[in-house]
Amino acid sequence: MPAWLVLTLLALGATACVDAPFSERQQAERVLQRSRWGTSSVYTPARTGLADAARTHFGLRAEPVQPFAYSHRVHLAQEMACTDCHQGVESGPRAGLPGMNTCMTCHAAIATEKPLVQAMTKMQAEGRDFAWARVYDYPREAHVRFEHAPHIRAKVECSTCHGDMRQQDVARRVVDMDMAFCVNCHKQQQASNDCLTCHY
Ligand code: HEC
Ligand code: HEC
Ligand code: HEC
Ligand code: HEC
Ligand code: HEC
Repeated sequence: MPAWLVLTLLALGATACVDAPFSERQQAERVLQRSRWGTSSVYTPARTGLADAARTHFGLRAEPVQPFAYSHRVHLAQEMACTDCHQGVESGPRAGLPGMNTCMTCHAAIATEKPLVQAMTKMQAEGRDFAWARVYDYPREAHVRFEHAPHIRAKVECSTCHGDMRQQDVARRVVDMDMAFCVNCHKQQQASNDCLTCHY
């Protein structure tokens, strides 16, 4: 394991634990124990190797390959709301990704002359749906708990965490939502920075 990585990991653990009162420190230990950095094996079998673990850690992940050429840029130019397709975002933890039936509420009638829309109509007739590849997510070993609804209620913009979607065709990971990103805003806005707010 290279020294720079060891130092980064120690710094992550150390800044997280400095000045924590006793109960927070206990929580910190629980979180650290269950994380991939807290165990004696540095990386878990879920990763192919240390390079992969480091790449995930620094957010340098391969661009996801999507099964269909859906474009945010085209749809948002039509003044559509995020909630037209991400219906859970204001009400629950997950935003949700749209399936074929959501798309076809419009495309049964809109842009039916376009080859891609004709391809969708055929897919629907064959009973096929989209299996979108995930863009923003955390490895299971990080045990991160995130909820959209409290952020939308607190008027945090989608673009703060996902960038300007009007400029993106397929969604890309333009914001690196690492732990410092979350913790810094929580500090500024006086939201809880208890370890168990964001970890399970
Ligand atoms: C017409 C439907 C539609 C609208 C409107 C829409 N999206 Fe999406 N969104 C999708 C589809 C389809 C995907 C999956 C394909 C992809 O990742 O590009 C997606 C994926 C995403 C992702 C990546 C999710 C992940 O982690 O896998 C983000 C973030 C996102 N959208 C944000 C937004 C925001 C913010 C808005 C409003 C400004 C918005 N979307 C409006 C259809 C839509
Ligand atoms: C405070 C940061 C933050 C804000 C604000 C935010 N998101 Fe997210 N979003 C995330 C994180 C973190 C994830 C990944 C969560 C996970 O998979 O564990 C995510 C995932 C998603 C996903 C894919 C998975 C899912 O939740 O179904 C979509 C779609 C999405 N966001 C859309 C939106 C839209 C639309 C808005 C604005 C209405 C928005 N987000 C606002 C942080 C944010
Ligand atoms: C609320 C209505 C609505 C929904 C829902 C919707 N679209 Fe669209 N879509 C449009 C409009 C409007 C256009 C632009 C038509 C134009 O430019 O002539 C469009 C254009 C398109 C095009 C053609 C782009 C091009 O230029 O070739 C495709 C492909 C497409 N949408 C796919 C999807 C997919 C996939 C979904 C579901 C994830 C979806 N749409 C959901 C309204 C919608
Ligand atoms: C730009 C500011 C900002 C960012 C970035 C941010 N948050 Fe938040 N978060 C808030 C605010 C404000 C609240 C609402 C506090 C309230 O409702 O009193 C909140 C609430 C939460 C809650 C609910 C807490 C509860 O008590 O119910 C969780 C969980 C959470 N955030 C996790 C995260 C995670 C994980 C990230 C990073 C992916 C993140 N947040 C990034 C501002 C932010
Ligand atoms: C406001 C949200 C938030 C709070 C509070 C928070 N974390 Fe995190 N933490 C995250 C997010 C998000 C990640 C994932 C970062 C990534 O994968 O890029 C993370 C990652 C970690 C990791 C690395 C896990 C791994 O295997 O990748 C450790 C260890 C960790 N946190 C410990 C702590 C401890 C200890 C505390 C309390 C002192 C704490 N966290 C408080 C959001 C938070």
